[in-house]
Amino acid sequence: MKISVIGAGYVGLTTAGCLAQIGHDVFCSENDKDKLAKLQAGVMPLFEPHLEGIIASAKEAGRLTFGSTDEGIDRGKAIFICVGTPPLGNGDADLSAIEGIARVIAKRASGYRLVIEKSTVPVQTGAQLRKHLGVHSTNGLDCDVACNPEFLREGSGVEDFLHPDRIVVGVDSPRAATLLQEIYQPIIDQTFACPVHSDCPSRNTLRFLVTDTTSSELIKHASNSFLATKISFINMVADLCEAVGADVAKVAEGMGLDPRIGPAFLSPGLGFGGFCLPKDVQAFIRIAEKSGCDFSLLKEVERINQRRIEHFIEIVRRELWVLRGRKIAMLGLAFKPNTDDVRFAPAIAIAKLLLAEGVEVRAYDPEAMEKAKVLLPAITYCDNAYEAAEGADAVLLLTEWEEFRKMDWGRLATLVERPLIIDGRNALPLENVTRNGFEYVGIGGLSAPSRLEPAMIPV
Ligand code: UGA
Repeated sequence: MKISVIGAGYVGLTTAGCLAQIGHDVFCSENDKDKLAKLQAGVMPLFEPHLEGIIASAKEAGRLTFGSTDEGIDRGKAIFICVGTPPLGNGDADLSAIEGIARVIAKRASGYRLVIEKSTVPVQTGAQLRKHLGVHSTNGLDCDVACNPEFLREGSGVEDFLHPDRIVVGVDSPRAATLLQEIYQPIIDQTFACPVHSDCPSRNTLRFLVTDTTSSELIKHASNSFLATKISFINMVADLCEAVGADVAKVAEGMGLDPRIGPAFLSPGLGFGGFCLPKDVQAFIRIAEKSGCDFSLLKEVERINQRRIEHFIEIVRRELWVLRGRKIAMLGLAFKPNTDDVRFAPAIAIAKLLLAEGVEVRAYDPEAMEKAKVLLPAITYCDNAYEAAEGADAVLLLTEWEEFRKMDWGRLATLVERPLIIDGRNALPLENVTRNGFEYVGIGGLSAPSRLEPAMIPV
């Protein structure tokens, strides 16, 4: 099918690349001229595992082209809107980019189009979109509006797109449902050349769920808010574990063994960051307020999350006593591993607070340093973790990249001023770290010895 994707951010580029990968003829548009020029020249504007190869081979095979929004609107029978919906000062989502695209589609397109909202939007955006496409239509547009929320985690977006647990489509007509099913059929049947696995995981549980557009919009915000709630819940429990001398890793493990709870999203640490969970929780709270519903539960989720950074700084202060003049190594800047995204990254907030306290910050991240430099020009960027650790009074683990788990702790111990690791993600191999002479401080629990107790014995 001829498909257009409007907007080449993390969601748009992943969507465009994966739709081309499963056999569609895709046109991806981008307003930012520099970014568009890069994409046309084959340069990736962001890091997302597997995506560069997918895009290069789809371009070569003639199944993916980059260009202007006008061209995109002319070419695609189905148009996926993947533009940004950043937060406004009051927490509302800024929908001006979506409104702008709706106007252009209405004025420009003639004949049939399926207009699909893929960006995360407040409930009833689909209804507004439908209304405005009608109001501004001047060229004989006949259209359906659908909501097809994305559930793509940055860092594993390609895998999530090609091997999803669910595909949710909110539609206003059987025609829209049929077209969306046609678009996703290769994924439903898992009949595409997978660029990620040689032997793909089986997905017998994949559901293609058809709803009305309003319910689909709610599914997305409710899902992200629920995930955020799980994270704040375990962070709240982590604080209690610290206070009473329990180990949050064990508590989470014990809770997660109940299939009604599940182990995912029970990792305590620095709280949820990134461009999705924080803004979606805020937007969901605003939607509820406007609709007269009491979402104080989510306000508390947000409050607990905001406290995480302060709490972490308190731990650093407790361990170092005086911060002014100390040298601190930060391992990780991205909001999570396998991405270069630093938007609302806990590491950025932590660096700013440390700088304000007079700390000399030396940092390393495998992918995110270029983007971090824009937000944090005043720290020292290093070529690797060992260089960052030279002369450090403490090493902070802020993003759980795999390469940090595998470091040579013996070598690291010879470089630091004081062998102290503060693990903001509870991700490091404790035994190995302490065996090499490091003092280890994690989140929500006891330090080294008690966490070395034998794990639960399987029965
Ligand atoms: C999130 C959702 O997981 C996706 O399903 C959704 O499609 C996406 O938002 C979106 O709306 O576009 P993402 O923001 O990429 O994906 O990252 P997550 O893996 O959800 O992690 C979010 C934050 O929570 C990160 O800062 C991570 O470090 C933190 N986190 C996650 C925890 O602190 N503990 C956990 O147990 C899990």
